[in-house]
Amino acid sequence: MQKKVSLTGIKPTGIPHIGNYFGAIRPALELSKEYEARYFIADYHALNSVKDPHLLKEMVYEVAATWLASGLDPEKVLFYRQSDVPETFDLAMILMAFTPKGLMNRAHAYKSAVQENEQAGKDPDDGINMGLYTYPVLMAADILLFDTNVVPVGKDQKQHVEMAADIAQSLNRTVGKNLLVIPEAKISESTQTVVGLDGRKMSKSYNNTISLFLPSKKLHKTLMKIVTNSQGVEEPKDPETSHIFTLYKLFATPEQQKKLAQRYRAGGMGWGEAKQELFEVMDTYLAPMREKYYAIIDDKEHIDKILKEGAEKARQVAAHTLGRVRKAIGVNPLYR
Ligand code: TRP
Repeated sequence: MQKKVSLTGIKPTGIPHIGNYFGAIRPALELSKEYEARYFIADYHALNSVKDPHLLKEMVYEVAATWLASGLDPEKVLFYRQSDVPETFDLAMILMAFTPKGLMNRAHAYKSAVQENEQAGKDPDDGINMGLYTYPVLMAADILLFDTNVVPVGKDQKQHVEMAADIAQSLNRTVGKNLLVIPEAKISESTQTVVGLDGRKMSKSYNNTISLFLPSKKLHKTLMKIVTNSQGVEEPKDPETSHIFTLYKLFATPEQQKKLAQRYRAGGMGWGEAKQELFEVMDTYLAPMREKYYAIIDDKEHIDKILKEGAEKARQVAAHTLGRVRKAIGVNPLYR
């Protein structure tokens, strides 16, 4: 039986943190066991907000190196850059004609941008470009072009995937019953929320993140900033309520976890030492990935080569779908 297709779009936004890794990157990579997995870097989506060409280019390399260092194997899965697959933009334009304007008006991201403007007493459309407004159409093109069955996304992107399904259904109704595969969002409920330095959810907006590829020394310094209560060294401590221990569990073996939990409960171990233990497992776990990351990011030609090969494979799939759609709507299939 043919495997179902999963597709993950990655917006380039700099080096991710530990929370992104455990919450998004690792679960997305695990999908390749069950699905025919496809991953791409959504650089045209980033263009809506990033207008510095140097920065955009850098961020694409960073995100590519991150996924490669995290275990993405371009020999086994499809990995490409959105802008290298022009079929996406042809399809996006076609989808525009099947997308009610009212649907775009209802998109959360657009609505909240308008709301922010109104609250600030500005023109409602201030700073909003057509790329942001039509963001869901481009995303639908990304998804539909690859006959995607499931799209693993966070809750914030669920509406966008539903819109892609709506748009696909509109084409299927109008020009061909089984023209496009109807995608479904796969919301990763079970993936753990990672706690940040202050015990709240790790998030850029709380400024409590631990960056994924910090050099050892900086990692150590960052971990020493973890907020603790005022329990003294001798006092027994409850590992289950300590966020130092919660972080520890992500990186330690079950055996290590059991041992350290006993030391917490026995007393005689201060928070400084608990942090040191955390640092050691974390550094051991992250060091190979970190080394890989810095080796990859130092060889941009190699990244270019990987993305180019990915694009060539992706375009073959894409041309097939696009040809089908162009024919169905009554324009010439592509000449090649
Ligand atoms: N909008 C997604 C985000 O902000 C990125 C993205 C673009 C995407 N195209 C996609 C995700 C297609 C899944 C499928 O994270």
